[in-house]
Amino acid sequence: MKRVLVLNGPNLNMLGMREPGVYGTVSLPVIIQNLEALAAQLDIELECFQSNHEGGLIDKIHEAYGTKDGIVINPGAFTHYSYAIRDALATVQLPTVEVHLSNIHKREEFRHHSVTAPVVIGQICGFGAASYELGLRALLPHL
Ligand code: DQA
Repeated sequence: MKRVLVLNGPNLNMLGMREPGVYGTVSLPVIIQNLEALAAQLDIELECFQSNHEGGLIDKIHEAYGTKDGIVINPGAFTHYSYAIRDALATVQLPTVEVHLSNIHKREEFRHHSVTAPVVIGQICGFGAASYELGLRALLPHL
C-alpha cells in the first residue's frame, strides 16, 4: 500500500467559513473525509496534516523522507513566498502535487507566482475541493 502525506497550510483550517465566494463552503474535515474515501479505493494510505506555521509544515515534509511515497500539498499563502517550504520539498525529493482550491492565476497578481511549483510534478488549481481528489489521482502513477 502506498503512503501519501496530505499537507495544508495557513488559514485552510477555516475553509467552510473563509471567503466562501472564493473557496466554497466545504470544510477541511469534509475535504479530508472525501479524500480518505478516494484513497481507500486507490489503495493509498493517507496522513493528513494542517498547520498555520511554516516550521510545522517543514517538519512534516522532513518526516515524510523515507516514510511516505508522495505528497499532496496546498501550501496556502506560503505558495507565493516560502523558499523554506520549497527547499524542504526539494530536499526530500518525493513526488509531489501542488493543489489549490482557487485558480491562483486569475486572482491578484501576487498569487500568480508559485515558488513551490518548480519543485513539484505539477499544479492543479481552480477546481475547488475537487482539486485535492484530482491531485491524488495525478500523483498515483508517480508513487
Ligand atoms: C490557496 C490560494 C492561496 O493564494 C491562498 O493564500 C490560500 C489558498 C487555494 O487553495 O486556492 O490560502 O492556496
